[in-house]
Amino acid sequence: MAKVISHPLIEHKMTIIRKKDTSSMEFRQLVNEIATLMGYEVTRDLEMEEIEIETPITKTTGRVISGKKIGIVPILRAGLGMVEGLLTIIPAARVGHVGMYRDPETLNPVTYYSKFPSDVSSRLMIIVDPMLATGGSLIEAIDELKRHGATNIKAINLLAAPEGIKAVEEAHPDVEIYVAAIDEKLNDHGYIVPGLGDAGDRLFGTK
Ligand code: PRP
Ligand code: URA
Repeated sequence: MAKVISHPLIEHKMTIIRKKDTSSMEFRQLVNEIATLMGYEVTRDLEMEEIEIETPITKTTGRVISGKKIGIVPILRAGLGMVEGLLTIIPAARVGHVGMYRDPETLNPVTYYSKFPSDVSSRLMIIVDPMLATGGSLIEAIDELKRHGATNIKAINLLAAPEGIKAVEEAHPDVEIYVAAIDEKLNDHGYIVPGLGDAGDRLFGTK
């Protein structure tokens, strides 16, 4: 089941980005901030190891992250809005990209670009996209990453529809999905209700 990350700061910011009169400038800033906050939870189970260090006073030990390195993969366009927020807390992450848009008639994703770090098989790959609607885009992005050798994949979405979560979980039961909120349903055009509208348009001020 998708993990809903509930926190007062996240809920507050989510309410503001849903409002139709929130500007692109505020929307961009808040999407990045929510991504940063969700990043704490997504990285909670990273492996740690103890190392010896020397403080100005004495020798001691401390724990640092070990093992798997991290990659961030935004689904273009809207996923771009979450990258800086995650890099704030994982500055050494590599960034791959998957470009896709939903065909407005069929709602099926059309992939037009993909580029990943060469070593995805040894990284935790975190796919980011504000919206998980039918799930088609996320399923296709995971397929694409797996075709390139990724075996450890997580996804962060701000808003999800129940039917989209179900579809992704059926197609890729090994991928953990983290969301800030699960909404009621999809409308006839595949938009999340109540949702926030078109995330790409709201981030970049296009219409
Ligand atoms: C949006 C969103 C997701 C996708 C979700 O992208 O950012 O990628 O729709 O829908 P799905 O779960 O039904 O596949 P969109 O197609 O609007 O492209 P854009 O980001 O370029 O605007
Ligand atoms: N993509 C969006 O940007 N918004 C939705 O509600 C569904 C898909």
